[in-house]
Amino acid sequence: MTGTSTPERPPYLPGDSLPEAETRAMIRVDHAGEYGAVRIYDGQLAVIGRGRARDEIRRMAGQEQRHLAAFDELVRARHVRPTVLQPLWHVAGYALGAATALLGERAAMACTVAVEEVIDEHYRAQAERLGDTDPALSETIEAFRADELQHRQTAIEHGAADAPAYELISAFVKTGSRLAIWLSTRL
Ligand SMILES: [Fe+2]
Ligand SMILES: [Fe+2]
Repeated sequence: MTGTSTPERPPYLPGDSLPEAETRAMIRVDHAGEYGAVRIYDGQLAVIGRGRARDEIRRMAGQEQRHLAAFDELVRARHVRPTVLQPLWHVAGYALGAATALLGERAAMACTVAVEEVIDEHYRAQAERLGDTDPALSETIEAFRADELQHRQTAIEHGAADAPAYELISAFVKTGSRLAIWLSTRL
């Protein structure tokens, strides 16, 4: 077409809310992620013996349970279908937690650092995408992002970087986390 056609309205303008399906996908993947986090710590706590590291892991696990409860509520209130992959995250999260803890406390902490770095990126991208279209959801995401960064800090203070094969663990956990995010957004 040439010349005088009226410009089409773009799919959405700043200030419009995002398409419902997109917000639902965000809640679905966040719910899956917090569920996975709870399972990772379950797996670590099954292996790690008493001590300071265990106390910290228990504390972080408690926060993940609160994050999960909040997304459970959002799933319910906004009629979001949870990911069909939840049974997989149930097993994979636990296995990852147990496996890293079997390598030692510092490897368990390295797992937390890697997961939280991916989640920080993920929550930040979501908050950016939401802008001011959904203040309640943005507030939740930003509050949890702050907690996750705190977990990362805690894990660093507990020697994550001194874990055996730190780079390998980190790369493995980050790749797995990104794959889980990709899958849980879509399925
Ligand atoms: Fe969390
Ligand atoms: Fe966390």
